[in-house]
Amino acid sequence: MTYDCTEFIYRRFGAARRITDFNRHGPMQLPDEAISYQYQSLLAPALEDWTPVAELRAEHLLPQHALRDFQTRLSQVKSQVAAERELKMVPPELLPLDAGFIDLPQKTLDEHRRRGEASTLGRVLKAASRMRQQCDRVVVLGIGGSYLGARALFDALRSAYHNELPAEARMGNPRIYFDGNNADNDALQELLDLLQQTCVDPEIQQERWGVVVISKSGETLETAAVYRAFRRELAEYYGLHSPRCNELVVPITGTTGRLHALCKQNGFADDQILTIPDDVGGRYSVFTPVGLLPAAVMGLDVRALLLGAAAMTRRFIDEPFERNPVMQYAACNYLMAAERKKSIRVMSVWSKKLEALGMWHDHLISESLGKQGVGPTPMTTVGTRDLHSRGQQQQEGARDKMINNLIVKGSRQPAIMIGMMDHNQDDLNQLNRKGLPDILDGAQRGSSQAYADVARPTADLIMPSLSEHTMGQLMQMLMLATVVEGRLMGINPYGQPGVEAYKRKMAAFLKA
Ligand code: PA5
Repeated sequence: MTYDCTEFIYRRFGAARRITDFNRHGPMQLPDEAISYQYQSLLAPALEDWTPVAELRAEHLLPQHALRDFQTRLSQVKSQVAAERELKMVPPELLPLDAGFIDLPQKTLDEHRRRGEASTLGRVLKAASRMRQQCDRVVVLGIGGSYLGARALFDALRSAYHNELPAEARMGNPRIYFDGNNADNDALQELLDLLQQTCVDPEIQQERWGVVVISKSGETLETAAVYRAFRRELAEYYGLHSPRCNELVVPITGTTGRLHALCKQNGFADDQILTIPDDVGGRYSVFTPVGLLPAAVMGLDVRALLLGAAAMTRRFIDEPFERNPVMQYAACNYLMAAERKKSIRVMSVWSKKLEALGMWHDHLISESLGKQGVGPTPMTTVGTRDLHSRGQQQQEGARDKMINNLIVKGSRQPAIMIGMMDHNQDDLNQLNRKGLPDILDGAQRGSSQAYADVARPTADLIMPSLSEHTMGQLMQMLMLATVVEGRLMGINPYGQPGVEAYKRKMAAFLKA
């Protein structure tokens, strides 16, 4: 099935919707759907009379001219990041360079238009459709960048109770489980027990399960060990020589490596192994098969995801600072860390459905920027839940935090209202016309105001809705901003040499 940008827009928004600047790549920007960064609250008012709080603002917020003064440096770094996409011969001081993710979303869509089923996206959709038809349960194995993006998409865009819903309510989407992201014996056994207890007859679709195994290097011990356990389980359930032992497994890995070699040895044809491009690093790989295949298995609209991501890359490359959320986010967060010593970077998500996105972001920041003795410490909090655990510290604790609120405008479901009740001992009848979205909004605005009153910096990242298209924009925006911030800091945002240290020590202990 071919499906282009025009079709996506018309399906999603209707033919009457005015789309600006439509070109061969599709919409330059979808005004209603574009995410934005509202950072004005980070700037201290100019020429304030002295008061104790004005002094705090001068100390902890940025002066009005800070961003203006920073534009030359920002333009240099933006040009550098843009130029890194084109480098054929990478100078040694830039290695590793994994800039392939920047243009990948549009390239993936273009290749799909040209090559259809033979393209990467075509193969992803085909493998996903096979798994969806064949299985009622799919276990996704992977860790770090080979896990967190898919997890973020699942939590954001599927019901929190997806796996518990009957098949019809899941609209044919299999139940999804994540493992291979730890060496947790009991957690793995619990998953195996679940499969053993609920799947008895492999001839019945509702009792068939499959595996997606993801590892770019193909050498990550946690994922490899758990995949072994699942290969044993596959052989036991489907039969040692059953073709299902391969048909119901989708390997996603680098072009070489141990997982690739193992799959070849186990009889997978080349076109049954989905590959991760060499120039895309783990935590930047959500728009490769690493994120796209699980997303398609879950029944998400992966083209909309890619369209959102591609639109964000175009905004990053083409738009001036005033309309460029990547540059705004990178600049503000960099300056807050470098000039105002806000070493804790709080991603305060105002939806439980975005907590896993926060985990993905923690990983992105930690492995990209935590190098050479510097880098912000990321932290995810969920509003309003964590106001009751971290709110006190954010209001009155150490002044080392920069808070980015991640706000979704509008809920997907109709508002649940407080309503009137005969027994009003809880005193809520006065709020009867308010709903849960009003409470969330009040808490968000109230906490930001309370922080602002004592010069605690916050800014707002606004998502007009929670959808594949906005998630695509958001994830690409955060990846691009992280690369820009790394270059501003003078560190390489790609690679994670520090992670190797534990791996070496672990291997030594295991071999002893
Ligand atoms: O961002 C990264 O590169 C890492 O977090 C990796 O994704 C993680 O270590 C898993 O690696 P692999 O996919 O090689 O198993």
